[in-house]
Amino acid sequence: MKSAVVLALAASSSSALAGAVKPPQQLNKRALAHSDPFYPSPWMDPNADGWQAAYAKAKEFVSQMTLMEKVNLTTGVGWMGEQCVGQVGAIPRLGLRSLCMQDSPVGVRLTDYNSVFPSGQTAAATWDTGIIYQRGLAMGQEHKGKGVNVMLGPVAGPLGRSPEGGRNWEGFSPDPVLTGIAIAETIKGIQDAGVVACAKHYIGNEQEHFRQVGEAKGYGFTIAESVSSNIDDKTMHELYLWPFADAVRAGVGSVMCSYQQTNNSYSCQNSKLLNDLLKNELGFQGFVMSDWQAQHTGVASALAGLDMTMPGDTEFNSAKSFWGTNLTLAVVNGTVPEWRIDDMAMRIMASLFKVGQTVEQPPINFDSWTLDTYGNIHMAAGQGYQQINWHVDVRANHGSLIRDIAAKGTVLLKNNGALPLNKPKFLVVVGEDAGPNLQGPNACSDRSCDNGTLGMAWGSGSANFPYLVTPDSALQAQAIQDGSRYESILTNYAASQTKALVSQANVTAVVFVNADSGEGYINVDGNEGDRKNLTLWKNGDDLIKNVSSWCTNTIVVIHSTGPVLVTDWYNSPNVTAILWAGVPGQESGNSITDILYGKVNPSGKTPFTWGATRESYGTDILYTPNNGAGAPQDDFSEGVFIDYRYFDKKNTPLIYEFGYGLSYTTFEYSNIKVQKSNAGTYKPTTGTTAAAPSFGNFSTNLADYLFPKDQFSWVWQYIYPYVNTTDAKAASQDPHYGQTADQFLPPHATDGSAQPLLGSAGKSSPGGNRQLYDVMYTITADIKNTGSVTGNEVPQLYLSLGGPDDPKVVLRDFDCIRIDPGQTSTFRAQLTRRDLSNWDPVAQDWVISSYPKTVYVGRSSRKLELNATLT
Ligand SMILES: *[C@@H]1O[C@H](CO)[C@@H](O)[C@H](O)[C@H]1NC(C)=O
Ligand SMILES: *[C@@H]1O[C@H](CO)[C@@H](O)[C@H](O)[C@H]1NC(C)=O
Ligand SMILES: *[C@@H]1O[C@H](CO)[C@@H](O)[C@H](O)[C@H]1NC(C)=O
Ligand SMILES: *[C@@H]1O[C@H](CO)[C@@H](O)[C@H](O)[C@H]1NC(C)=O
Ligand SMILES: *[C@@H]1O[C@H](CO)[C@@H](O)[C@H](O)[C@H]1NC(C)=O
Ligand SMILES: *[C@@H]1O[C@H](CO)[C@@H](O)[C@H](O)[C@H]1NC(C)=O
Ligand SMILES: *[C@@H]1O[C@H](CO)[C@@H](O)[C@H](O)[C@H]1NC(C)=O
Ligand SMILES: *[C@@H]1O[C@H](CO)[C@@H](O)[C@H](O)[C@H]1NC(C)=O
Ligand SMILES: *[C@@H]1O[C@H](CO)[C@@H](O)[C@H](O)[C@H]1NC(C)=O
Ligand SMILES: *[C@@H]1O[C@H](CO)[C@@H](O)[C@H](O)[C@H]1NC(C)=O
Repeated sequence: MKSAVVLALAASSSSALAGAVKPPQQLNKRALAHSDPFYPSPWMDPNADGWQAAYAKAKEFVSQMTLMEKVNLTTGVGWMGEQCVGQVGAIPRLGLRSLCMQDSPVGVRLTDYNSVFPSGQTAAATWDTGIIYQRGLAMGQEHKGKGVNVMLGPVAGPLGRSPEGGRNWEGFSPDPVLTGIAIAETIKGIQDAGVVACAKHYIGNEQEHFRQVGEAKGYGFTIAESVSSNIDDKTMHELYLWPFADAVRAGVGSVMCSYQQTNNSYSCQNSKLLNDLLKNELGFQGFVMSDWQAQHTGVASALAGLDMTMPGDTEFNSAKSFWGTNLTLAVVNGTVPEWRIDDMAMRIMASLFKVGQTVEQPPINFDSWTLDTYGNIHMAAGQGYQQINWHVDVRANHGSLIRDIAAKGTVLLKNNGALPLNKPKFLVVVGEDAGPNLQGPNACSDRSCDNGTLGMAWGSGSANFPYLVTPDSALQAQAIQDGSRYESILTNYAASQTKALVSQANVTAVVFVNADSGEGYINVDGNEGDRKNLTLWKNGDDLIKNVSSWCTNTIVVIHSTGPVLVTDWYNSPNVTAILWAGVPGQESGNSITDILYGKVNPSGKTPFTWGATRESYGTDILYTPNNGAGAPQDDFSEGVFIDYRYFDKKNTPLIYEFGYGLSYTTFEYSNIKVQKSNAGTYKPTTGTTAAAPSFGNFSTNLADYLFPKDQFSWVWQYIYPYVNTTDAKAASQDPHYGQTADQFLPPHATDGSAQPLLGSAGKSSPGGNRQLYDVMYTITADIKNTGSVTGNEVPQLYLSLGGPDDPKVVLRDFDCIRIDPGQTSTFRAQLTRRDLSNWDPVAQDWVISSYPKTVYVGRSSRKLELNATLT
């Protein structure tokens, strides 16, 4: 099994790559970044907070399982082998049906009668933890109603290192604290609905380009391996790992490892990432599943901490698997210790039990590959004709929640008194982005086009619309109700007609524009997932410039997957208001109407910075390989300085800063107070784990694993745990099976003895050492509504850590508070030990530096009205 062995080495040191990869030309011949090995893979802890009952149930179940049943539970049956985007083998003897893993982070993908929710990024713009939880709960309920076991979301990777990143909209924000709080609330919501959440994509998955070798070939680049995100330890902890720590602390049941490499080791076999950071330091008790085809080895990935392979085949429909038969063989021949496969099975079963699932599962009532009622249940094989879709309506009353989230996630960037609208005499709506996709809202599969209004971006993070309320239809209905005159032009390319219309007397013009992006397997207009520029699509800038040259009251609404350049026109006096409406989901038109007419007072705050130029961000996508035919090397050399941290460091002028957003009322900040808590001194965790437990036993006679021909027939291309022959080498179909040169196992990889606990890790506390979350300071401030309408305000707590290498300020807490006119409310925020610390790579722990620390309370990252020094 050559690849497993070679890559086992790759997962643990760079030396294996030295022979395979040519020295990079543009990289000054320095050594490639590498990952240090960490073995053995940490096993579950029966006493972990929140996991005790689940562990006990899992132990009871797993103790009854045979080796082949355990292998079945860990291995997908192959691409399109069953109804969901991913399913593992069933355990018929114990009454467990095949588990269903299904996209997406905005709703149930590839089915019908489901809702489409606003994107994660739009939800983050609400800064409202209550509504973010409600969104998670509702999405969880819809997945539950379809028979899904694991919902493939939410997303904290990409975090949003580069504004062009194609999938940034699926996540929340380039700020780790906003993302951390949002991902934790979303996970709690999803899992309270009885569905296992999956925090993805772990980690460093910051661009679509070069994430997969085959995909790169599709757009003209030949590379031997996927791009490597080279991230130093401090940046990893203070930025990219931070929200995953919050996800683990929130009890997330699964984590998906990503396509790309980190430090030249694939994420799904990188023992430093999976064994050390995730399972050892953060104390993650759930299971790690691979992204679809992100597994590259069998034994090596098992020992490095992977627990489930998706969709199970080496490549889609190859009929081969790194696991399945190979994992059975590897356990029987002693390469993968029994405790490791037991741990995989324990982690998967415990996650199900933790969210309240039982061995008896409700049926899966939909099929991802067709909306037809009848079809082949094994779609890839063309076998098993039966009813496969029951068209179950799982939407409940989620439409009103969706309308509310998208309204509250809309950011009012500019308002010269034009808004809110009040029975305008003549409302004119301009732009393709206000109208429908003429071929239907679901015409382009996985939303692989930018036609009509942007309600959702593209890729596997999509879902089918049950309907899409366009801005045109909702605004027209409002206009008719008000007795306004109303006309719309739903194309960006009708200059003379547009001029004739908006030049008339009494016009209030609302121009809708957009910028789209998505996942790397789809190219839309030359954008390979990642955006190729930060400008508006379809001539949007010219449309705005034209309309505003003809009309003194031009309101601009932007639907986009991240910031766009507004530099050329935002300051025009004729552009009287600008709104960012994110990626709003099915209620788009209703949500924007609520905001434009003041039925909802805007309270959204931008979850990213709006720079004047593309270059001003300091980070960008690597669009061209820089390492010959070897893995492109993406050095995250900016460290923690992304988004506002970079702009602040360089003191770069910008257009709209992180955290900024207007309201129809005004707020005044006063009276900051700091209260210190007695949290005691930090004690690094000491002691050891228990030895690795194993549950049940297994036969070493391969005859016991033969495919039971008499019981059922082998589905074509399907992945099973069985062997076809008792000759191990022949059964593995691997010419290198058992070769001496291929016997490399990383030191300690099979060691099941008690292991030392890490200082920064918890003792049974997922998320890391409990004391990291001790509250050290409580900060309060008074917020007064000085305007004339009720509104929500989002006061934000920033911290200066004070060191020469620290960002000017970092967000640490926030709240969304409803305040009536003339009333004052108290904003209350907390600083934990982790909040006040830096990661010390030498100590391998969080340390509070001796630099003076200042806290700020303000309405954005650059409007910090109140401050206080911490003592
Ligand atoms: C990547 O390499 C950097 C620089 O040596 C190191 O600080 C960091 O811990 C490594 N990260 C991983 C995941 O191996
Ligand atoms: C493994 O899963 C397959 C497919 O779900 C099922 O047919 C088979 O019976 C399972 N094998 C065992 C040993 O449980
Ligand atoms: C076992 O894994 C190897 C790759 O490591 C693969 O070539 C082979 O086909 C696999 N065997 C089976 C039965 O899937
Ligand atoms: C054990 O099985 C695995 C999976 O097929 C194979 O890669 C490895 O070479 C085998 N090792 C031995 C010692 O037979
Ligand atoms: C949809 O957009 C594509 C380009 O993305 C374009 O070729 C096609 O004509 C559009 N269809 C409609 C109906 O507008
Ligand atoms: C409509 O336009 C006319 C002509 O400019 C102007 O006299 C009138 O005040 C406007 N009415 C409103 C409601 O804006
Ligand atoms: C940026 O990309 C979009 C989408 O592909 C395209 O419509 C637009 O023309 C591009 N902008 C520039 C300035 O090239
Ligand atoms: C604003 O609109 C008026 C009326 O059409 C026009 O005369 C003027 O040039 C516009 N100003 C700008 C800066 O576009
Ligand atoms: C095992 O045998 C079945 C037929 O019983 C066949 O369809 C399948 O391809 C074989 N698998 C392997 C890995 O040889
Ligand atoms: C802190 O607030 C005081 C009072 O408003 C102000 O004078 C001072 O400049 C602020 N300090 C910082 C570092 O922002």
